[in-house]
Amino acid sequence: MVPVIKSIGVVGAGQMGCGIAHVSALAGYKVQIYDLSQDRIETGLATINGNLARQVGGGKLTDEERNAALALISGSSDVNDLAPMDLVIEAATEDESVKRKIYALVCPVLGPDAMLATNTSSLSITRLASATDRPERFMGIHFMNPVPVMKLVELVRGIATGEATFSAAKEYVAKLEKTATVAEDFPAFIVNRILLPMINEAIYTLYEGVGSVDAIDTAMKLGANHPMGPLQLADFIGLDTCLSIMQVLYDGLADSKYRPCPLLVKYVEAGWLGRKSGRGFYDYRGEVPVPTR
Ligand code: CAA
Repeated sequence: MVPVIKSIGVVGAGQMGCGIAHVSALAGYKVQIYDLSQDRIETGLATINGNLARQVGGGKLTDEERNAALALISGSSDVNDLAPMDLVIEAATEDESVKRKIYALVCPVLGPDAMLATNTSSLSITRLASATDRPERFMGIHFMNPVPVMKLVELVRGIATGEATFSAAKEYVAKLEKTATVAEDFPAFIVNRILLPMINEAIYTLYEGVGSVDAIDTAMKLGANHPMGPLQLADFIGLDTCLSIMQVLYDGLADSKYRPCPLLVKYVEAGWLGRKSGRGFYDYRGEVPVPTR
C-alpha cells in the first residue's frame, strides 16, 4: 500500500532545507525543521519568510497563502520533534560522514512506517540507505536551487527502495506542482552529471586565462541563453558543493575528464564559497557583485 504523506520533516535549515520546507508548506503539508542550533533555525525561518514575501511582492502568492504556509512550519533543535513526521528529507551538507551521523540520530526517533529521503546531489543512494534502518523506505528526492522557483525534482531509487516508497515520493512531488524525472543511482544522477562538468570547464577556462569572469559569464548568458553565467551559478550553488560533486564524479566514474579544476580547489581552500560566504568568483560584500579575477 502506498503510504499517505501528510507531514514533512526537514533535516538542515540551510538553503535547500528552507526551500523544501517553503514549498511543502505551500502545498499544505505540516513541516518540522530540525537543525543543530536554534540560531540556524531562526535564520532559516527568516529566509523562508523573506522568500514568501518576495513571491507575494511578485503577485505569485496572496498574503493569506503566505500566512497559511508560515503557520504550517515549525523548527526546533530537538530531534525528537521529528517523531510524528511521515516523510523526513535530509538536506544536510554534501558530506557522507555527516549524513551517516544524522541517520544514526534520526532513525531511532522515527515511526516504523516513516519514509526517509536524502536531497543529496551526487552520493550513492544505495550506500546511504545501508546506513539507515529502513533501506526499503529510503530514496533520493533531489530538489534544485532555488527550490521555490525550479520546477524539477530528481527521484532516485536505491537498490532496496520499495515500490510503495517510490510511488509516495512521486505523489509528493506532484502535490508540490513540480515535475519529477527518474534517474538511476549513478554518481551525480542526471542534472549534476551534465551541469557540473560544464561549470568545472568554465573554471578551467578562467584558470587557463582564456577569458575573465565577466567574459565567461557574458559569453554563456548571451551566447547560449543561460539565465546565469556558469561562474555566477557556481557561486549560487556554493563552491564547496561544486567541488564535492566533481570529486564524487571523479572518484565514482574514474575518468580524468571529471578532474576538479585546481582553481576551484583553491577557492574552497580560501573559504571563498560563493554567495553564502560573501566571496567566490564574485565579491558580494558591496552594492553589486564584483568579479574577483
Ligand atoms: N524564493 C522564492 N522566489 C524566488 C527565489 C527564492 N529563493 N529566487 C528567485 N525567486 C523568484 C523571484 O521572486 C522572481 O519572481 P517574479 O518573476 O514573480 O518576480 C523570479 O524568481 C525571478 O527572480 P529574479 O527576477 O530575482 O531573478 P532572475 O530573473 O535573475 O532569476 C533565477 C533568478 C530563477 C535564480 C535564474 O537566474 C535562474 O534560473 N538561474 C539558474 C538556476 C539554476 O540553474 N539552478 C539549478 C542549480 S543546480 C542545482 O540546484 C542542483 C544541485 O544539486 C547543485
